[in-house]
Amino acid sequence: MTDLSQLESDLLARAAGAGDVAALEALRVEALGKSGQISELLKGLGRMSPDERREQGPKINGLRDAVAAAIAERKAALEAVELDAKLAAEHVDLTLPAPPERRGRVHPTMQALDEMIAIFAEMGFALAEGPDIEDDFHNFTALNFPPKHPAREMHDTFWLPEDERGERKLLRTHTSPVQVRVMQRVNERLPSWVANGQEPPIRVIVPGRVYRSDSDATHTPMFHQMEGLVIDRTIHMGHLKWTLETFCRRFFETEKVVTRFRPHHFPFTEPSAEMDVQCDRSGGSIKIGEGSDWLEILGGGMVHPNVLKNVGLDPDEWQGFAFGLGVDRLGALKYGMPDLRDMFAGDVRWIDHWGFSAFQAPNPATGLS
Ligand code: PHE
Repeated sequence: MTDLSQLESDLLARAAGAGDVAALEALRVEALGKSGQISELLKGLGRMSPDERREQGPKINGLRDAVAAAIAERKAALEAVELDAKLAAEHVDLTLPAPPERRGRVHPTMQALDEMIAIFAEMGFALAEGPDIEDDFHNFTALNFPPKHPAREMHDTFWLPEDERGERKLLRTHTSPVQVRVMQRVNERLPSWVANGQEPPIRVIVPGRVYRSDSDATHTPMFHQMEGLVIDRTIHMGHLKWTLETFCRRFFETEKVVTRFRPHHFPFTEPSAEMDVQCDRSGGSIKIGEGSDWLEILGGGMVHPNVLKNVGLDPDEWQGFAFGLGVDRLGALKYGMPDLRDMFAGDVRWIDHWGFSAFQAPNPATGLS
């Protein structure tokens, strides 16, 4: 006959001393498994006389419960130790700096352009584009440039080698050739994204790259312009002035902008003017809306009758204004950048510093920048 109390103290001691969950499981199988020691004792109950069974039954069941409880208790303790060890080993140090994340920034030129487009779109201007590689006709001749005009010189303009038809193309020196392309109304040779001709009334803006042989702190050989063109029956200089003054107030986001029109000459407008804004240059940077200095920011005027004739519009029926402004120049002015050349140097540190978030599209209602 098994000594139940001896067996119990044995099993309880082994349960308490089990070093890991696996040893404990082996003990459980040995004692309580299908043919474990205690299970065999329980099976033996069936062969006993009723009196014997009444006496032994509670003891063996008590033994089973005590051993099962001891195993469960030890298991919980071992698991807690295991968990503590795991937590200590897999500890995440939240104070470590996160790995750097490279995020793209919107170039200030594109930001300025988007702001300008938002402003002019609200005034009802449509967008047109034209090719960077132009022909002499669109860049000069149709715009009323005389044959020997200095802008046609080799040292001012980037000319391409003669093509098979003996024609020399050039990198457009301004966005004004797109005026011609829009007014010409027939552009079958050009891809669909390029300005397709329109019937008057016309109200377009034309953003794009332009190229001149020029390089100093305020000039880069490639820069961005935005052309404006409005053609209708009764458009006059007053409309031009209102449009540009309104644009300046919105773009610089201040009512205090003071502008002046200065007579100027462009072959393709008559009268022509340059527009200056009043500013303060006494500190290191230029401030718009204060001071008594003037800064030239754009050119414009009434479209010359010869240009209208060159594109097949009757100057006695149609008239309008055009203007051209420097996108980079105005952006640099608004955002306070000192040197235009840095804009196109491709230095990522520069764009990290001066760039804009891609998640804030300029919108006149919610703010431009
Ligand atoms: N195309 C001129 C320039 O580049 C600007 C301009 C555009 C002037 C339209 C008058 C009208 O300087």
